[in-house]
Amino acid sequence: MSKLFAAAVWGLGFTVLAPDVSAAARDGTCVDSPQAVLTVCVAVDARGPYYDVHRGDRTVIAHAKLGLVLDGFGNTPASRVGNARRTQVDQVWEQPWGEQHIIRDRHAELRVTFSGIDPALTEPFELAVRLFDDGFGFRYEFNGIAASREIAIVDELTEFRLAGDWDAWWYPARHPDRDEYLYRRAHLHEVHLAETPLTLQSPGLYLSIHEAALVDYASMNLRRTAERTLKADLMPWSDGVLVRKRGPFVTPWRMVLVGNTPMSLADSRIELNLNDPARLRDTSWIHIGKYVGVWWEMHLNRSTWASGEKHGATNANVKQYIDFAAKNGLGGVLVEGWNRGWDGDWIANGKHFSFTESYPDFDLPQLSAYARERGVRLIGHNETAGALENYESQLKAAMSLYAVNGISVVKTGYVRPNGSIERTLADGSLGHEWFAGQYRVNHEVKVAEVAAKHQISIDAHEPVKDTGLRRTWPNMLSREGARGQEFNAWGRPTNPPEHLTILPFTRLLAGPMDFTPGIFDITFGKSDVNERVQSTLATQLALYVLVYSPVQMAADLPENYDKRPDAFQFIRDVPTDWETSRTLQGEIGDYVVIARQQRGAADWYLGATTDETARALTIPLDFLERGRKYEAQIYRDAADADYLKNPTALVIEKRRVTAKDRIETALAPGGGLAVRFRAL
Ligand code: NOJ
Ligand code: CA
Repeated sequence: MSKLFAAAVWGLGFTVLAPDVSAAARDGTCVDSPQAVLTVCVAVDARGPYYDVHRGDRTVIAHAKLGLVLDGFGNTPASRVGNARRTQVDQVWEQPWGEQHIIRDRHAELRVTFSGIDPALTEPFELAVRLFDDGFGFRYEFNGIAASREIAIVDELTEFRLAGDWDAWWYPARHPDRDEYLYRRAHLHEVHLAETPLTLQSPGLYLSIHEAALVDYASMNLRRTAERTLKADLMPWSDGVLVRKRGPFVTPWRMVLVGNTPMSLADSRIELNLNDPARLRDTSWIHIGKYVGVWWEMHLNRSTWASGEKHGATNANVKQYIDFAAKNGLGGVLVEGWNRGWDGDWIANGKHFSFTESYPDFDLPQLSAYARERGVRLIGHNETAGALENYESQLKAAMSLYAVNGISVVKTGYVRPNGSIERTLADGSLGHEWFAGQYRVNHEVKVAEVAAKHQISIDAHEPVKDTGLRRTWPNMLSREGARGQEFNAWGRPTNPPEHLTILPFTRLLAGPMDFTPGIFDITFGKSDVNERVQSTLATQLALYVLVYSPVQMAADLPENYDKRPDAFQFIRDVPTDWETSRTLQGEIGDYVVIARQQRGAADWYLGATTDETARALTIPLDFLERGRKYEAQIYRDAADADYLKNPTALVIEKRRVTAKDRIETALAPGGGLAVRFRAL
């Protein structure tokens, strides 16, 4: 067991080490986090560069390889580490919208250069390490490459070689349904190729391995290459090259969150801090908020995206949704199936989608005027079925059409089996690209940039996983990228209750999710629990707090909300923009409790949910402002509620509370709790 004594002495820049230190600490260069919680050491041996990570006395990562393999370069591993530079940063910055308004970026940065004896054999690179108290990121910077030189990255050597015994919360990467799988808990040695964020737990320690600022690069998966070693596995181009670059370049940040509770992972802001500041100066045109839509009815098979008798996106139907949104103060109405291309097998025929031509029973100018007169905006929908070339060729025309019609958010979609995105190659043949290879990664930034020129924001379904790009492009609002509510309509099988207790500590570490909560008609006539929503009504309300997204759908049919105005009041009240967020309690896969303060207001909201097991909760309210009185509007499971037998039994009650109080409550099996604390 290695021991690192004392923090690095800034300015002098060294760390005092005990005699039994790890190899990297002994032979290399170390940096401590601002409060000396974590230490990262980098070094080089005969196999090349590597790093170690320590948290106090505990070694977290030991002797893990670093580096890239560039085609056509010597690729003799670096043998020298030098030119160490350290800086400290402690600054705050503001999000235009988000789960937290003001973000503190407090980290220590270490930069070291790795090189060889002969530059022709070893391309030198700089490793930038940013170390926070709750995790770290590092990236490779190849600054010395000639401007016109074409680079093909053929391997990334980065490893996460874990010390200790770990369980993983994971699903396999490169499977057909992209990121839409249930998480499994398994011992690390059962993981083969995992998507990130990959959350790991061992007694007393939690990790999440992910990446930040995935720009012009291939998405990283993690392949287990030895008992406890995970290696970066990049989604390649169809010709096998992993990443193509020209001239000097930097990679995305490889990021690891480290904490002694799952809550510390959920409340980490490292991913955002590792992204570049906003490129958009004016963000006043970005509209966030709640929306309804011609959507769930299609998933329930009551209407169709395709034209014909059951067509959902008709003028008359859309007007009903607009009226409902206006009546309830919801700002947006999503309409799917409004455009030509849905008839027949649209997943196979994505290249026939038009993004400007409506079906004849949908009148865009008329409906957008109708919406505008009622203080509502239509939300556009662009299902591409993964036909990127078709979409890109219409992008400008589509965005300008939407802008003229007052649309400020477009939901995109990429329903297409992973690995089958078609791309026309130089010889005219078709290449089949992975879902989050460099081609697709670049496409998403392209869409955001064109949209921004038309003051439009994006909510991407079947997206490239989130890596915090909303900091740089604040019009990248939200994404799907996990099994959302739609799976509860399809039943193969539907999401089990524990799914909602896993997401906050896995997928949601990556960023906002357009989960589309709020189904009130939980069973919609199905008798088999595996074919309908597996939660109580209180849980459906809790999701507006538990799953952060700046755009939140009230996903059910208006008629179902009209039947339960008492419960719907919570959806009317809950905001989608927060001053701050705190994950109060939780165990991954068992339960979770999150509180958030409304941005620019004193009200707080709280959400909690449990897996299939009933659970008694005691929640101290010490997050509330001290000395202030609140009215707690509590939406809880009734005593006889149960997601299997009695899912809609809900009790709504009001209490006066202060920060000194606590809520003692019982969650039903599959149950939840939603509370608004209205400041008095
Ligand atoms: C999958 C999306 O997740 C869903 O929201 C959408 O309705 C369908 N694709 C059709 O685009
Ligand atoms: Ca989807």
